[in-house]
This record gives sequence, C-alpha cells and structure tokens, in this order.
Amino acid sequence: MVVLTGAGISADSGIATFRDAGGLWEGHRVEDVATPEAWERNPRLVWRFYQLRRAQLREVAPNAAHLALARFEQACARADVGFELVTQNVDDLHDRAGSRTWHMHGELSQIRCERCTATVRGLDNLDPETLLACRQCGFPRMRPDIVWFGEVPYHLERIERSLRRCTHFVSIGTSGVVYPAAGFLAAARSRGAATVVNSLDEPANLHPRDRFVPGRASDVVPSLLADLASEVGIGDL
Ligand code: APR
Repeated sequence: MVVLTGAGISADSGIATFRDAGGLWEGHRVEDVATPEAWERNPRLVWRFYQLRRAQLREVAPNAAHLALARFEQACARADVGFELVTQNVDDLHDRAGSRTWHMHGELSQIRCERCTATVRGLDNLDPETLLACRQCGFPRMRPDIVWFGEVPYHLERIERSLRRCTHFVSIGTSGVVYPAAGFLAAARSRGAATVVNSLDEPANLHPRDRFVPGRASDVVPSLLADLASEVGIGDL
C-alpha cells in the first residue's frame, strides 16, 4: 500500500495549507518564497520565511490522522505487508507520529549547503534573521532543504517502484495540482490499484473510479484505514 499526503493532513494540527486565502501562503505569494529565483533574489526573506515555519513546528502536534497512519504502518510490518508513506509536507508531524516518511519536497528541519551538499538537521533556535555558513566548506549561505518549484523532488525512483507494485493507493489532503505528486493517483489506478481519496473538496486529479471520502483528515482517516486494514490483509488495527 502507498499513501500520499499533502497539506490537508496537517491542517487539523494548525498548519496553514498552501492554496488557502486567495493563493497566499502565510501572506506570501508562493513565487516569492518557494522558487530558486526567490532565493537568488532575496535569500534573507526566504530564509526568514522558512525558519519561522520551522519554529511553528514546536507549537503543533501530530493529529489523529498522522497517528492512525503510524499505527497502520506498524500493523503492516507485523503482517509483512509492504507499506510506504510519501508526503509532500515539509513539516515533521508524520515523523513525530512514528512513521517512516519519504519527504519528496524536503524537510523544514534540515538545511543544506548549495556548494558541497552537506546537510544539517535538528538545529533548534535557528535565527530567522541570520544566514548560516556551511561548517564543512565555508560557503556563506546554507539553504532550507526544501524542493522548490522548478526543482526535482526527492525519492522519485523509489516512489515509482512502489507505485508499480501497490494494490492500494490512498491520497490524503492534497489538491492534486502539483506534479509529479498529482500524477501518482492516476499511475496507481492505471496499474489496477484500488484508489481512495480524502480531502475537504474534490481534488483536481479525482477520477470516478476513485473512492472519495470527503471530510477532515483527523475525523475520517482513522476509520478509512480501519476499513482498509482487512482489505490489505492486516486484520484489525
Ligand atoms: N482534512 C483533509 N483535507 C483537507 C483539510 C483537512 N482538514 N484541510 C484542507 N484539506 C484539503 C483541501 O481541500 C485541499 O484539497 O487539502 C488540500 C490542500 O491543498 P494544497 O494547499 O494545494 O496542498 P498540497 O496539495 O499539499 O500542495 C502541494 O504545492 O506549494 C506546493 O510544495 C508545496 O507540497 C506542496 C504542494
């Protein structure tokens, strides 16, 4: 089974989604903070934006949907059923819930050097006003380890491999407009997987063959997974 999550699953923990409020993300146009051009143009603004998002993580916690996915993964491991959790989210709520998570769009909790590719994670209290030099090579400006628009997402080969093999694909809290992630649903469907989609509104990539379960992820995902547990052969959760 492959699960893809997006901003909607973390909305119930209090993290703003991307396409709310007239297309602004925390008051910024996405092009002003989430592109390599924005970083070149105004690294201080971009650094500040992401360090504030990172600081916000200390004030939020995984919700019932994150926790149910982690429990589901443990049940799959016990029953020797393959399970992969892929997220577009850069928050750490799946990780804190206990899931092994493939962060295809990077992670707020990590920064990386553009010159030598060294990464550093787990630095608390990074100053949002001060750019950080790389300790490995001295390059003056480490960047957030975030995949911006126009950049290639992480782990695509592994994800593609899982999509080819999965019998069940579940999409949670994503608007289905940002590719390549938005194409995973059709890829799994076309290979014969059963497809289940949760979101508040119908996402752009929804197909009549998908089972659509509307509602808040923290309300509906635990029971949706309980239903799937017997289908994938892991018994009761
Ligand atoms: N429960 C379930 N779904 C929800 C909830 C909720 N509580 N709240 C909102 N949603 C749904 C919305 O209906 C919408 O379909 O979550 C989706 C959020 O969509 P986006 O804000 O577009 O987020 P996402 O699809 O994750 O964005 C994809 O775009 O900006 C880039 O790289 C960024 O990873 C991000 C990518």
